[in-house]
Amino acid sequence: MPIIELTKISRSYKNGQVLINALKDIDLSIDEGDFVSIMGPSGSGKSTMLNIIGCLDRPTSGAYEIAGRRVEKMGDSELADIRNQLLGFVFQSFHLLPDLNALENVELPLIYRGLVGNERHKRSVEALKSVGLEQRIHHRPSQLSGGEQQRVAIARAIVGDPKVILADEPTGALDSKTSETIMAIFQELNSQRGITIVQVTHEKSVAEYGHRIFHLLDGKIERVEDVVK
Ligand SMILES: Nc1ncnc2c1ncn2[C@@H]1O[C@H](COP(=O)(O)OP(=O)(O)OP(=O)(O)O)[C@@H](O)[C@H]1O
Ligand SMILES: [Mg+2]
Repeated sequence: MPIIELTKISRSYKNGQVLINALKDIDLSIDEGDFVSIMGPSGSGKSTMLNIIGCLDRPTSGAYEIAGRRVEKMGDSELADIRNQLLGFVFQSFHLLPDLNALENVELPLIYRGLVGNERHKRSVEALKSVGLEQRIHHRPSQLSGGEQQRVAIARAIVGDPKVILADEPTGALDSKTSETIMAIFQELNSQRGITIVQVTHEKSVAEYGHRIFHLLDGKIERVEDVVK
């Protein structure tokens, strides 16, 4: 069953007199439990597509359904609910709050959900354990390595029990060994917990952790590649 379905999605930006068509009539269907990668040259529309899938941006035209709900006509608060309840985000530069320790960073999405202290604490420690960081929960981001910071960001993404993780170049700031650690975590979240994963990457070796690779070129899906394992 598709959990994400884009039908003729376009996104254009107007810059003065210039119209940029960042996405052109994208049709895309991602099943629940799938693990897909998006590749393509700089400027081909990868982040634009991920931001639309993540309800962080709205398409100019087209239809978008996530978990059976029509997104493109939703208001801002409904979009925020979708993000908070269904989605977890991981970014290249981690996006952790520098003044909060690992535990407090992971607790944030649960605070927005109105969970009380005890339950929040328990679930956040659990999430940090599942990425192997139980020894680091009181460290601030500046006291952690890049790979550890990304694992905190993954713990924050999964603490709310999302159906889908969206990751924009999650290994872009990491060396290849650390990238493998991060991909091993993604693989486990996908195969053990059934979390659907959609990631953007420039690295073929990272993309191949997915089951399928969407190759974007100039705002269109040029080719879909099945990964042979
Ligand atoms: N807010 C914006 N205003 C105007 N143009 C934009 C905006 N965001 C993106 N674009 C344009 O849309 C196109 C697609 O951008 P996008 O960020 O999706 O590319 P990308 O594939 O993620 O590239 P990269 O690999 O460099 O991250 C580019 O031509 C970009 O300049
Ligand atoms: Mg990008």
